[in-house]
Amino acid sequence: MDTRRILVTSALPNANGSIHLGHLMEHIQTDVWVRFQRSCGHQCIYVCADDTHGTAIMLKADEQGIDAETLIANVKAEHEKDFADFLISHDNYYSTHSPENQAYAHLIYNRLKDAGQIAVRSVNQLYDPDKDMFLADRFIVGTCPRCKADGQYGDNCENCGATYDATDLIDTRSKLSGAEPEMKESTHFFFSLSNFDEFLREWTRSGTLQDQVANKLSEWLDTGLQDWDISRDAPYFGFEIPDEPGKYFYVWLDAPIGYMASFKNYCDREGLTFDDFWRTDSDCEVHHFIGKDIVNFHALFWPAMLKTADFRTPTRVHTHGFVTVDGLKMSKSRGTFINARTYLDNLNPEYLRYYFAAKLNGTVDDLDISLEDFVQRANSDLVGKVVNIASRCAGFINKQFDGRLAPQTGTPLVDELVQAGDEVAAHYEQGDYSKAVREIMSMADKANQYIDEHKPWIMIKDEDQRDQVQQVCSDGINLFRVIMTYLKPIVPSLAEKSEAFLNVDSLDWTVRETTLVDHKINKFKPLLTRLEMVNVEAMVEAGRETGPQTGPQESEQPKAEEQTVDTIEYDDFAKLDLRIARIANAESVEGADKLLRLTLDLGDEQRTVFAGIKAAYAPEDLIDKLTVMIANLAPRKMRFGVSEGMVLAAGPGDKEIFLLEPHPGAKPGMQVS
Ligand code: MSP
Ligand code: ZN
Repeated sequence: MDTRRILVTSALPNANGSIHLGHLMEHIQTDVWVRFQRSCGHQCIYVCADDTHGTAIMLKADEQGIDAETLIANVKAEHEKDFADFLISHDNYYSTHSPENQAYAHLIYNRLKDAGQIAVRSVNQLYDPDKDMFLADRFIVGTCPRCKADGQYGDNCENCGATYDATDLIDTRSKLSGAEPEMKESTHFFFSLSNFDEFLREWTRSGTLQDQVANKLSEWLDTGLQDWDISRDAPYFGFEIPDEPGKYFYVWLDAPIGYMASFKNYCDREGLTFDDFWRTDSDCEVHHFIGKDIVNFHALFWPAMLKTADFRTPTRVHTHGFVTVDGLKMSKSRGTFINARTYLDNLNPEYLRYYFAAKLNGTVDDLDISLEDFVQRANSDLVGKVVNIASRCAGFINKQFDGRLAPQTGTPLVDELVQAGDEVAAHYEQGDYSKAVREIMSMADKANQYIDEHKPWIMIKDEDQRDQVQQVCSDGINLFRVIMTYLKPIVPSLAEKSEAFLNVDSLDWTVRETTLVDHKINKFKPLLTRLEMVNVEAMVEAGRETGPQTGPQESEQPKAEEQTVDTIEYDDFAKLDLRIARIANAESVEGADKLLRLTLDLGDEQRTVFAGIKAAYAPEDLIDKLTVMIANLAPRKMRFGVSEGMVLAAGPGDKEIFLLEPHPGAKPGMQVS
């Protein structure tokens, strides 16, 4: 086997909030892959860091009356402890606010500039005259120009889904000071991403991304790449741009460079050569694990930057979806916005590792944690199937045979499981852990069946069958050993306890063929206790009390936070003219991810309405469906045209939006009461 040299990263968590289930899913996904590679004997280095720069962190520090450096140091210590307690095996956990990161940010920027890929342009932006700073969209609040909901941020409305320019908000205020923002001009620096169309079309299709992601990106590429604004004006917590006083790198410029910086810091400590991994002709691999919300940064900006700056591009970007709990977005009020610490205070981390692994399939689909299923699955698989094999065999071996296993294996099943390891390995490699887990659990079923068929607890009553008892139980222990080897990347601590029990060094893939014959095992101690629903309930209760510690997000696509809706009076409701409409036509809107342009038939007239339901319906499936529309909503000019009303649908959103099925009694134009 050729030893691969692999550098692996998880996305750098923002330094302004606590680690929660979403981050954990990503780090567990990454860690399982890393531990699998190491088990196979490859050199696999896993680095991460906190993402420390940006306005949000600067403001949060202000709010707490400490300087940004202190804030990020506190948060880093908390993050590191959380990850360690979830058995995440980072080789280095660093910070983007580091000398290495500054050095690489400068180097890369200078190379982009020398390559003629940095453009200087003047931009107009809203400015807070009280705070003396420019305002990013998420620090601007106002009334939605479409639905008139107040308290809407930036460039999209949480209430009706409209997208607009922050400047289109009515009664605009700075979220920071409440002052009315002014338009002000400033010089910004742009990375000329538009020059990389051809390169990125090729790169995104070269096996570096999942097909689902590559397809999404080619939609973006088809709408045309925009140059990327990489500078921010002071005051900003970050790195000042060389020779441009008062101008700072936008946090997303130096964030991915943070991967390199963390690795460089590791190399210097461990005596590795950074360039082996990052030079253009490197034969090492670089793998990034990220969420679907930050694909553009990793699969467009990042490879274009690396290529221009004369570094290698990633081998693969592994993208995952979002965590939901019981089918819904994680929520503070439901107690399902669960922080790492809240989980750890109540439950064993390996159950979550196992559950995520059992559901991760290498796609970008969201991953739902059903709390009931979580408890059921963890108990029936890990305790009921796997640990059970060891516990039912260990007693006989320890008590009757002085802990000694039989001098040979007595069933071809052991060899069968060893052989099946190649397939399990292929699933891990592909990121389809759910298939790996399924195979492993079917092995555990077979092992249990084997023991059930031979019934050592009956044979032991017959002195003539003593050897048989030792044989069957030794086989059981050997089957357990193979199964635990395959599970080890997922449940490393359970595996470690199993190693102690089996009296073996390390349950690695590379030594799975070596069966234990005439071998002394140790006394069996319970390896795992059952997961109890009461503890899960206690965790949810605790989650409700503390809620997320997250501040505003630094992403370009802010992640929606929970919203509380005030009640309305009956009179407000009575103003709505709700009518049944037939969807006469539905079509995609160029340049809009979520929107469909609907032509609605109200019996005596037709209306055009833009609705954010593209994730739930293909346009052709909507034609002739009925919906309820608000017919007296004032027409609204949107980026893509005028919308003349709104449609109502049931469901939490995204893919789950349900319209009415046609009913012979429901006629277009009919009033809804
Ligand atoms: N700081 C940036 C990443 C910079 S990488 C050079 C960032 N930070 S984050 O804290 O908001 O998110 C970190 C990672 O966690 C991202 O990959 C993101 O997709 C993931 N998740 C955050 N919330 C999530 C869920 N609810 N579910 C799954 N993953 C999610 O983005
Ligand atoms: Zn709105």
